[in-house]
Amino acid sequence: MSTRPRLTLIAAVSEDGYISRGQGVPWDLPRDRVHFRATTAGKWLLLGRRTYAEMLGWFRDHTPLVLTRDASFVPPIGKAVRSVPQALDLATKAGVEEIFVCGGSAAYELAFPHADRLFMTHVGTRLGAGVAFPKIGTPPWRLVSSVDYPADAENAFAMRFADYRRG
Ligand SMILES: NC(=O)c1ccc[n+]([C@@H]2O[C@H](COP(=O)([O-])OP(=O)(O)OC[C@H]3O[C@@H](n4cnc5c(N)ncnc54)[C@H](OP(=O)(O)O)[C@@H]3O)[C@@H](O)[C@H]2O)c1
Repeated sequence: MSTRPRLTLIAAVSEDGYISRGQGVPWDLPRDRVHFRATTAGKWLLLGRRTYAEMLGWFRDHTPLVLTRDASFVPPIGKAVRSVPQALDLATKAGVEEIFVCGGSAAYELAFPHADRLFMTHVGTRLGAGVAFPKIGTPPWRLVSSVDYPADAENAFAMRFADYRRG
């Protein structure tokens, strides 16, 4: 019997819980871009249609699945899905081991109940307002590792790469 892939959320979040000011990524952090690119290289991704549109020129060896309610939408790269279970089903049939949920807020919220793992970049700045990341809550998430980096000449803000698992 085939097992369903692990579902991992990957997100960069401000101290006050935002992922964007409303359009695009709200900071210029080369270290986080390298981390994101290395983590997701060659993987199946799940994205809300807005984030997919923002990232369209970025995909290389990825398989993006696009969450949309629009049954007529045919993405130029990857496949459209109507739900997270549909994405998991497609990936299970393809024998994929892991799907990375790359946002935005709507996609994270829909994926949260199914998620096994969270890769968070906690960014050392406050945005005050914007598009929010859903609340992690305390249980059932546990922190298994984290690495801290201070701000430097190329990265305006400090960041923490944190890996949380369910259970
Ligand atoms: N900091 C970070 O790590 C990070 C990561 C990713 C994105 N972002 C930011 O997040 C923002 C976008 O977030 P967002 O929440 O506005 O948009 P989103 O999650 O990227 O996409 C929203 C779209 O998902 C589809 N959708 C929503 N609910 C659905 C459902 N129940 N079933 C099926 N499809 C559904 C809809 O597409 P249709 O309209 O086609 O139906 C909706 O318009 C952008 O500013 C982006 O830059 C930040």
